[in-house]
Amino acid sequence: MALKNTPVITLGIHDGHNAGAALIRDGEVLSAISEERLNNIKNFSGVPALAIKKVFEIANVQPGDVSSIAIASLLRLDDPMKVEGNKLHFLAENIAPLMHQKWFIKNSVFILHKFRKIKGITQVLNELGIGDKKIYFIEHHLTHAACAYYQRPWDDKTLILTLDGMGDGLSATVNIGTGFNIQRIAQTSFYDSIGNNLYSEITAFLGMKRWEHEYKIMGLAPYGRYEGVIDSLKKAIRVNPEKPLEFENISGHYLKKMQLFYQKALAGQRFDNIAAGTQKLFEELVLEWVKNSIKETKIKKLVCAGGSFLNVKLNKLIRELNEVSDVFFYPAAEDGGTAVGAAMEGYYRYCQNNKTKAKKINITNVYYGQSFSSDEIEEFIKSKKLRFAKKVTSDQVAKLLSEGKIIARFSGRDEWGPRALGNRSIMADPRNMSVIRKINFAIKMRDFWMPFAPAVLEEDQSRYFKKSRFAPYMVEAFDTKKDAEKEIIAGLHPYDLTGRPQIVNHWNPGWQEIIRSFKKITGVGGLLNTSFNLHGYPLVGSLETALWTFRNSGLDGLLIEDWLIEK
Ligand SMILES: [Fe+2]
Repeated sequence: MALKNTPVITLGIHDGHNAGAALIRDGEVLSAISEERLNNIKNFSGVPALAIKKVFEIANVQPGDVSSIAIASLLRLDDPMKVEGNKLHFLAENIAPLMHQKWFIKNSVFILHKFRKIKGITQVLNELGIGDKKIYFIEHHLTHAACAYYQRPWDDKTLILTLDGMGDGLSATVNIGTGFNIQRIAQTSFYDSIGNNLYSEITAFLGMKRWEHEYKIMGLAPYGRYEGVIDSLKKAIRVNPEKPLEFENISGHYLKKMQLFYQKALAGQRFDNIAAGTQKLFEELVLEWVKNSIKETKIKKLVCAGGSFLNVKLNKLIRELNEVSDVFFYPAAEDGGTAVGAAMEGYYRYCQNNKTKAKKINITNVYYGQSFSSDEIEEFIKSKKLRFAKKVTSDQVAKLLSEGKIIARFSGRDEWGPRALGNRSIMADPRNMSVIRKINFAIKMRDFWMPFAPAVLEEDQSRYFKKSRFAPYMVEAFDTKKDAEKEIIAGLHPYDLTGRPQIVNHWNPGWQEIIRSFKKITGVGGLLNTSFNLHGYPLVGSLETALWTFRNSGLDGLLIEDWLIEK
């Protein structure tokens, strides 16, 4: 039993799509990192051996001090691209009508959980000398719910919504959170998934990678017209009229057969109109589900997690609903975030089992990854013979940006989640439309229709955005104000001029200082911010990768803490 003042430290592990590890102490995240940042393989799926070891190193915690270990998901979910066409999929396609039955999900998850392999994880735990610690398996949608709910920025009773492609047989849940208790009141099966059957299947239908390129459909949607497409899509999925807190697949198909369904339903339609129809129907149905959930529970404060809540346009509409009094979107909403969710739930279970009073810590910044000391950086610069590297001030960096230079910033600890929040970011003058072309073609090989984002000072947010609020994680979109939009035009969606900003405050003083310096020179309270990586790679995670990326791109400069390397 834990003594009263002994800290309770929990290790969270996620070994599926975008694997990672997290360490929390008494409900506070000490460290968390995705394996992709350490092995440079985007969305790495498998045992996060490097991340598990790294979270101890970052937090300066001895593995032996861990109280318990929590593994996300009862079933390990592999990258669907790898398993597509296998026997399991063939089976799934052909027993489709069974798959939304509650008994089927419960029993199949129960049976398959018995076969869950954790040999690779236990091997790493044994190497750390903690193979004998208590292990909790936390159900997938509960991990999503836990990371959003336990760290919510208020203490009141809360409606918890989770929504994703699938995990542990489910794709959406509605829950009521009170104190340290999460009570599930509704769930949607994986067969009825709106994320998979609508969004991901259309992503694949348009020739892109499902489970990775859904954001491209969202970016493309404003260019198209949904009117001629949406009725065909409505034949695939709806909110269940009998059970209004659940979605329902009405196509009768799944996986490959779903593709055949769309081939017929969407024959002759233009790709941008298909994207528009998909986004529109997705918004309509999810909003209906959200409103039904509020009506049923009479709770107006929401927290949301699960990959579908990375859809910033959907999040904007949820935030704007009259029925919603406040909403928090967990920044690492996708499966990568479940290492924290598992650790959170594992922590509260451990406290319950050991009669220890649990603590709640509200979320602030999410810089949970590793940083590099000034000695390490100087040593690196020396070893690479970077003779022209020089120390610079934020004013000097801002001046270069105002002259049209594009500079990557590698500073402080990695961001948790998919968004670059200033520490692994590429920055540029947001007034300057020519930087878009340069970043798209010379640096990131991005699709031409994809928007960038602005990082805007907290004190300037209301100057640029309508109905603005403190949105520090880049997971919500806002409409812009006409008179100021030209100042950050390169950081907005080029067609509808919405923005998904990072609102910057003292949580990241170095980043804030560069933007403030830029404002002194230009009067503009923001910068264009995009993730520091090449197309197809994860956000850069090491000094070595940062330098490699700089050298293999059209970047003008690389800023490592206050060291600037120019071409
Ligand atoms: Fe998920």
